[in-house]
Amino acid sequence: MEARRQVHSYVLRAARMSDGQRRAVDEFYSLYGLTFPPVPNWAELFPHCKRFVMEIGFGNGEATVEIAQNRPETGFIGLEVHTPGVGQLLREIHRRGLTNLKVLRHDAVDVVEALPRESLDGYHVFFPDPWPKKRHHKRRLLQRPFLQEMIATLKPGGILYVATDWQEYAEEVLAALGTFPEMRNPYQGWAEGVTWRPSTKFEKRGRQENRPIREILFEKRGAP
Ligand SMILES: C[S@@+](CC[C@H](N)C(=O)[O-])C[C@H]1O[C@@H](n2cnc3c(N)ncnc32)[C@H](O)[C@@H]1O
Repeated sequence: MEARRQVHSYVLRAARMSDGQRRAVDEFYSLYGLTFPPVPNWAELFPHCKRFVMEIGFGNGEATVEIAQNRPETGFIGLEVHTPGVGQLLREIHRRGLTNLKVLRHDAVDVVEALPRESLDGYHVFFPDPWPKKRHHKRRLLQRPFLQEMIATLKPGGILYVATDWQEYAEEVLAALGTFPEMRNPYQGWAEGVTWRPSTKFEKRGRQENRPIREILFEKRGAP
């Protein structure tokens, strides 16, 4: 665990924040933001929700807000380390008056490790940093040790849903998930026909550069 923590899946560059993003963080983090370690009692945080889903690396949160708005009965926790994106999402939560979406600005590796076992109904990871150079592959977030931690925090029947435009990373994740006996792939390989995921900036970039979009969706066995 220690060894993994020394290698981060992101690099925090000096963040260029717009005034609006900065104001949103100052004004709204106390309303819609969470502190680390998160209160793991999701039902207390979202009293009107029955299901709880965590999104890792939401970027600017464009898919996050849409999905949350379309599913008011699910509580969403968005994780991101990039402050301008956090500001942008906080502003949107406020503008749309969403009560089922909270934000946590923290490294997902620490957050997932701090969660109770079998407490979540799903994970969304959309376009995780691909770290294409071979010497950087160790920075990829979705490797076996972290996947194992994520799976342990899923309830039976919970899903792990990943989208990426990086073929070789996608193959790696598909193969790694296939090694967990507690997980089941309801598709033949790639997940197809998932229509509810809104597009994001990174998806658009991948398409413009002619990279196919790969989706991977596994379920934890033992649904009640
Ligand atoms: C390539 S971007 C994709 C953003 C967004 N999901 C999209 O599709 O536009 C990956 C994001 O993951 C975030 N990220 C990477 N490692 C993370 C970690 N360990 N914890 C939280 N966020 C992380 C980065 O800051 C970055 O914003």
